[in-house]
Amino acid sequence: MIDYQQKIPNNVNLNTDKSLQRALEHWQPKFLDWWGDLGPVASKVKDVYLRTAVGVDAKGWADYGYVNMPDYRWGIFLADKVENRTIGFGDNIGKPVWNEVPGELRSQLRRIIVTQGDTEPASVEQQRLLSATCPSLYDLRNLFQVNVEEGRHLWAMVYLLHAYFGRDGREEAEELLFRHSGDYDNPRILETFNEPISDWLSFFMFTYFTDRDGKFQLKSLAESGFDPLSRTCKFMLTEEAHHMFVGETGIARIIKKTLETMQSLKTDDPDLLNKNGVIDLPLIQKYLNFWYSSSLDLFGSESSSNAAFSFANGIKGRPDEYSFEDHVCNNTTYSLDTPDGLKEIEYRNAINEITRNAYSKDCLIGIKRWNNLIRKSGFNFEFTLPSTKFRRSIGVWQDLNFNPSGEKVDSSVYTKMMSSWIPNENDKKFINSLMVRVDTPGKYASWISSPDRGINNQTTDFDYIRFN
Ligand SMILES: [Fe+2]
Ligand SMILES: [Fe+2]
Repeated sequence: MIDYQQKIPNNVNLNTDKSLQRALEHWQPKFLDWWGDLGPVASKVKDVYLRTAVGVDAKGWADYGYVNMPDYRWGIFLADKVENRTIGFGDNIGKPVWNEVPGELRSQLRRIIVTQGDTEPASVEQQRLLSATCPSLYDLRNLFQVNVEEGRHLWAMVYLLHAYFGRDGREEAEELLFRHSGDYDNPRILETFNEPISDWLSFFMFTYFTDRDGKFQLKSLAESGFDPLSRTCKFMLTEEAHHMFVGETGIARIIKKTLETMQSLKTDDPDLLNKNGVIDLPLIQKYLNFWYSSSLDLFGSESSSNAAFSFANGIKGRPDEYSFEDHVCNNTTYSLDTPDGLKEIEYRNAINEITRNAYSKDCLIGIKRWNNLIRKSGFNFEFTLPSTKFRRSIGVWQDLNFNPSGEKVDSSVYTKMMSSWIPNENDKKFINSLMVRVDTPGKYASWISSPDRGINNQTTDFDYIRFN
């Protein structure tokens, strides 16, 4: 169980390491300042019905109750240690896992932890203004839940930096609060985390597609031979599942509302639907195109010697490593699709691409469910994932002119058609015009239906937020 008597709740016996405890207690007020300045805007919000981690067992790990958000107990929670765990892949396979950072892998490990850590506060910053336009109290509560947990994920990475990387680790922890999403001089490390999220359709797309990238990064890191990193990521995955649930059900509820309106008006005419305060399906597809293609870049280049190094040395595996037969992969190749046709590359160099493919497959689950809703209501429209060649800024397809179907087009066509593939200024204007705050229990904005059930078996008209 987690010790909540301490200043920093934790299950890592922080009180037995006084200098580490002091260093983290020194960082804590800086984190709280950052939360106050760049965390969710929550003026007049008194209490939020939130879950807080109380243990690390998959069953019954969280408690629900009202929390005054700045008093949320961010802490350090690692999944239980697996006795005699050994490295599961790469050249060090079968050797005992490391409880300290091996000197020769130090900079690579630090870079990976910093990059993961950077995304956590970034997403909180991106979502900062959404509270002003929440479509319901239920949704506002979910936004805050996601935000406090991303804050906790920052704690998770900062703990590793402080505990295992000495002085440079502490410096990196400061930098994590110094860089800001979209900041011209000090942006966040990865581009998707500098994209503004100014409306709730984008928020749901982000939690569906971008938090899912997080899931796959965490899955790969949960395989790590650096045991504290593996244990940290395992527990983060438990929390992360809710973020994708928010995305998947959020989009489903938007679709449901649109379909109901399509049925009652007997039309699929976008203008008419928009005039009636709902989002037409092709416009939802454009937001999907934007966030999916942006999130694909987060996996890095298809062919990467960096990824090969991490795999070879047991730093970062493939998601669900157990599901593969060969865990060493040093004499095999991978056929990589490139603009010049199929190319055989060393398998280890293709780890990013293999992880990205697993991610894309996982993305299809929601698409299928959304399409089922449409089919059941008797309309003829299908959501699709755009081609992985579309709108890429990293890797072999970078800056090439492919349309969402994966066909090469002239650069003039590409430029001209882009506004019909991803949201254009008019689309954004319309979506933003729908973003009107609804904060009466049980009431939902015009463009989204109420959820099927509430949080933690509460009703959908429960007062998830109490105001001053
Ligand atoms: Fe996270
Ligand atoms: Fe997340």
